[in-house]
Order: sequence, then C-alpha cells, then structure tokens
Amino acid sequence: MRIALGVTGGVAAYKAAELVRRLQQEGLDVQVVMTRAAREFITPLTFAALTGQRVITEMFSEEGRAPANIESAIEHIAVAQRIDLLLVAPATADVLARMAHGVADDFLTTLYLATRAPVIVAPAMNVNMWEHPATQHNVATLRARGVHVVAPEEGYLACGMSGPGRLAGLEAILDAVRQVLGLKRDLVGETVLVTAGPTCEDLDPVRVLTNRSSGKMGFALAEAALRRGARVILISGPTHLLPPPNAEFLPVRTTEEMRRAVLEQARAATVVIMAAAVADFRPAAPQPTKIKRASGGLTVALEPTPDILAELARDRGNRILVGFAAETEHLAENARAKLEAKGLDLVVANDVTRADAGFDVDTNVVTLFVRGAAPVELPRMTKREVADRVLDEVVRLRHLSR
Ligand code: CTP
Repeated sequence: MRIALGVTGGVAAYKAAELVRRLQQEGLDVQVVMTRAAREFITPLTFAALTGQRVITEMFSEEGRAPANIESAIEHIAVAQRIDLLLVAPATADVLARMAHGVADDFLTTLYLATRAPVIVAPAMNVNMWEHPATQHNVATLRARGVHVVAPEEGYLACGMSGPGRLAGLEAILDAVRQVLGLKRDLVGETVLVTAGPTCEDLDPVRVLTNRSSGKMGFALAEAALRRGARVILISGPTHLLPPPNAEFLPVRTTEEMRRAVLEQARAATVVIMAAAVADFRPAAPQPTKIKRASGGLTVALEPTPDILAELARDRGNRILVGFAAETEHLAENARAKLEAKGLDLVVANDVTRADAGFDVDTNVVTLFVRGAAPVELPRMTKREVADRVLDEVVRLRHLSR
C-alpha cells in the first residue's frame, strides 16, 4: 500500500524520520512530501535516503517558474491517485488552517484537495496555538469532513511550555494508520517462511532450464505477512523484484540451494508457504563445459528434483504448510491430490492458462483447497489481495491447530 507522508514545519519534523521507518516496517511504501517550512527543520535528503524515493518539495520544478514539463505539472494528481492514505505528521497550525479552508498554495495542500484517499493529521505545536479557537475550529472542520485527527499529547514542549501540543506517540499514529487502512496485526509472533520465483537448473556453464515464474505472488505474500506483524524469511529464485526491506532475504538459484535454505530456515518457521515454481526436473548430468552445437540435435536426460514440500511435511511439527498448484487442466482433482499426497494444510491452485492469472501478471484467479471443506473459489483480484486471503486462511488454520 502506498502512503504519502506530509511533513510540515515544526520542531517535531525530526520525528517524521523515525515514523517513515515504522511505516515501512508495516510493509507500506512511503512517499514523503515536505512543505517549505519543514525544510528549515530537516533536509529532504534524510527522507530520500530512508525511502529511496525523491522527496516532493515543490509544486513547480523550480521556485516561481512554470512547470518544466507536463509530468511535473500534474504530479500532484498522479500522486493523489496513487496513494491509499495521506498522513500529515507533524501538522502545524498553519497547514491545518490551509487544509480547513481549501487553500492549495503548495504541493501538500494541493494533494489534500486532489486525493480521494483517507486523510490523517497528527498536529504538533505550542500549547497556546493548539488551544486557540482558530485552530480548534479548523480541527473541528477537518474532523467533520472525515479527516482523522491523532490528538497531540500533553507534555513538555520545545518552546519551554507544558501542556497539550506535543506530537502524539508514534505508536498512536501507527494505530490510526492501521485502523484507517484496515491493516490486521494477526500474525504477530509468527515466523512465516515464503518461497518465491523460479529455480534454475544448469545444463552446462551457460545454459539453464527454468520457468516463467516472476516471483510476484511470493513477494506479495512476504509483504502482506510483514504488514500483519510476522517475522518473514523470503527465499527466492532469480527475479527482477526488490525484496521488502524488512524481510530476511535469501536469494538462491537451483532447487538444491532452495531445498537447503528452506530446510534450514524452516526450523524457526511456524508457517511455510511454498509459492516458488520449483523445477520438477533437472539435467541428470550437467556438463562441466559448454555443450557444442551438434548437427544431430541434442537429447538431454532429466531426473526429478527433490520435492521440498514433501520433505518438509515429513517432519512438520506444528507448522502450517501451504503449497501452490499451477495447473493447466483438472484443477480441482490435481489440487486435492497435492493436498493429500504432500500432507499440506492448504493448496492455492491457479489455472495458468488464463491471461489474467499465473505467470508475470499482477492479478491472479485462485481456488483455495483445505481438507474436509468445500473449495473456496476467489474472483480475479490483485496478487496483493490474494496474498491477504491466503493469510486469512493461514490464520484460521492456526487457530484450529491450537
Ligand atoms: N514444490 C516443491 N519442491 C519441488 C517441486 C514443487 O516444494 N521439487 C512445491 C511448489 O513450491 C508448490 C508445490 O510444490 O508449492 C507444487 O507442487 P508440484 O507437485 O510440483 O506441482 P506441479 O509443479 O504443478 O506438479 P505436477 O507436475 O504434479 O502438476
């Protein structure tokens, strides 16, 4: 999920750096927008380094000048449409006033008007400014409009006074974010091991046998599990994706490497989700030197790879085991057979012949199979949504197993 964090000019602006980290730990993608005054307190570089993204500081490309190009001219609209939440923390009396009155004189206040995403403000200011009827009136206006307000705390303020005005604790701000975004925290205390991507099997030093898995489903599962509070170990074959910053990431290449990593890491795991498209076969005798082009063609003998899930299932303990089934025909029969044969708790099956499901697309159409219950056919949804539905089922199975 994407969130725009508006940082405005108060002493508490420095706390926004820690807030970025905590939001990222929730699995959120954070775009920072700073007002001009905020830049007197903390530099954009700090946020750029934390988020790995450009920090938006100006409405226009250069102060006072028209936008350099059409992209910068409509960037606020693009950001407005992209985000799932606008959080302003710390919010000064000034920004609350501008938001309450619909003044759009910088990027942040323009974004506020342009977005349909929910909005949270966490005010921080001097006690008298907070208690001033003008500020209270503006806050009431924003509340009436559906803006969520994380009230400031009482305490010692930078100005030397004491009273309400200090930025709310990060935990209170995060609670508001979780509540507004409907984020569940039902995997706290669980260690979820996720595998993703393809595996590669060498034919010779330059050629490999692999498959079309992009890793998107597995990475979405890792992100969703992190958001829901789990410790996440992500073991992946080669992909073009960036691992979530808070996952313990172990890149592997071959099935054997994945097998070793999974068996080793599974000891700590309470849930194992094998979303990787593990090669089922590998060359029986990989060549140490490059195979030369032969006029008579080439026949390669393949041998089965070790079945990682089946091996895990033999010594499963109290672990929840989830497998994936990529099918081109007889989906239900094959998925049920896998559930039984591998001793799994849940099989997520998809028909990979569909254009909107399976390899390298952002959506998936899956059916969930558990023992002793009717299959649950899910409609077409994003892989992120599928990930959450799979984890809902994992949580349900976890409760049953206790
Ligand atoms: N899997 C595994 N080890 C393998 C192969 C697959 O752990 N060597 C896992 C996959 O990660 C996936 C599930 O097992 O979760 C898929 O089962 P599999 O029987 O390999 O399915 P298909 O590859 O679709 O096999 P089949 O040819 O039987 O349809």
